[in-house]
Amino acid sequence: MGHPTNPGCSASLDASKLKITLSETLKPLQPIETLQFGKTFSDHMIVATYDPAVGWSAPEVKPYGPIALDPASSCFHYGGNAFEGLKAYLGPDGEARLFRPDLNMRRLERSCARLALPPIDGDAVLELVKRLVNIEKRWMPEESGYSLYIRPTIIATRPGLAVTASDHALLYILASPTGPYFPQGLEAVSLLAVSDNVRAWPGGTGSHKVAGNYSPGFLPQIAAAQQGYDQILWLFGEDRRITEAGAMNFFVVVKRDDGDGLDLITASLDGTILPGVTRASCLALAGDPEFQKETSLRLHPQEKLYTMSDLVKWSSEGKLLEALAIGTAVIVGPCNRIGYEGKDIVIPGNGLGPVGTALRKKILDIQEGRTNWQGWGVVCS
Ligand code: COI
Repeated sequence: MGHPTNPGCSASLDASKLKITLSETLKPLQPIETLQFGKTFSDHMIVATYDPAVGWSAPEVKPYGPIALDPASSCFHYGGNAFEGLKAYLGPDGEARLFRPDLNMRRLERSCARLALPPIDGDAVLELVKRLVNIEKRWMPEESGYSLYIRPTIIATRPGLAVTASDHALLYILASPTGPYFPQGLEAVSLLAVSDNVRAWPGGTGSHKVAGNYSPGFLPQIAAAQQGYDQILWLFGEDRRITEAGAMNFFVVVKRDDGDGLDLITASLDGTILPGVTRASCLALAGDPEFQKETSLRLHPQEKLYTMSDLVKWSSEGKLLEALAIGTAVIVGPCNRIGYEGKDIVIPGNGLGPVGTALRKKILDIQEGRTNWQGWGVVCS
């Protein structure tokens, strides 16, 4: 597979060449109630390098630990870093399952292409993810809502300060046992609507999973916390379009004027929104007759442009029923108030409402292998 800086090179990532070097000592497992998102890592990681002369190296499982890099590496200076997040769950049959991992892999390929990183074969990465999950099975908590979070990352390792695409890269895949994303568990989070800083813009990288989308949000996040809010509701444009919440997609549940059930609304994929796997899954479930029947919910999924004026209006009319932060890490989490122009828009309840509860339950049932749904649960063995 070639790269713009070296079109002739042909060695693509080959999972069948995986070398395995296991750790001599294994770490003790941690009680699950003490797990914090992304703090604990398993015993091993997978690494592979891309060199313009040879293409992708044979990948290797090795003990988890520091990596040595040239300090001039492009990732440290120009932000070449694309990553994914997906979870492996232990099912009642003892099998480890991933949730729609093909979507993560296609997104990883797109993210790498957007940053002009050397091309990567997502199917090969998925094969490696499965191998790592099987090696690290003892790290998978059995309790519902707990899983092994997998973080495949590709960084630009071209040594040197030239402002150009990196023709070297490092792939590493980490595994981290995880439970609830927010410290408060399933209690609702508060959001501060922010428009002076923006998360993404047309033509930018908001629809790709690249590291550069995240760190510019940290300072506004600190400011929001100082004002007593948990997360940011990112707005865009003069018309204050609603885009995302923190590092997650955002949905609202709105009572319809025609009395025919509820609208489940989220921003459309206009290039500024991350095409989340859980986002796509919630939209598909909401529109599915079987899901509607089993939950007795009449839902109308809608991807569209909607603004803070819409939210204020729906709230004042008593139609705004639920607000949801949705993503791989949180799955489906409730929001209880949105700070905007010095006031709070209050969402009823302090936990998940009926729609959030039904979506979360169904997604967890699929993820944890209690139900089969359109091939979304993918066994790792
Ligand atoms: C997710 O919702 O999984 C995210 O992408 C957020 C974050 C952990 C990067």
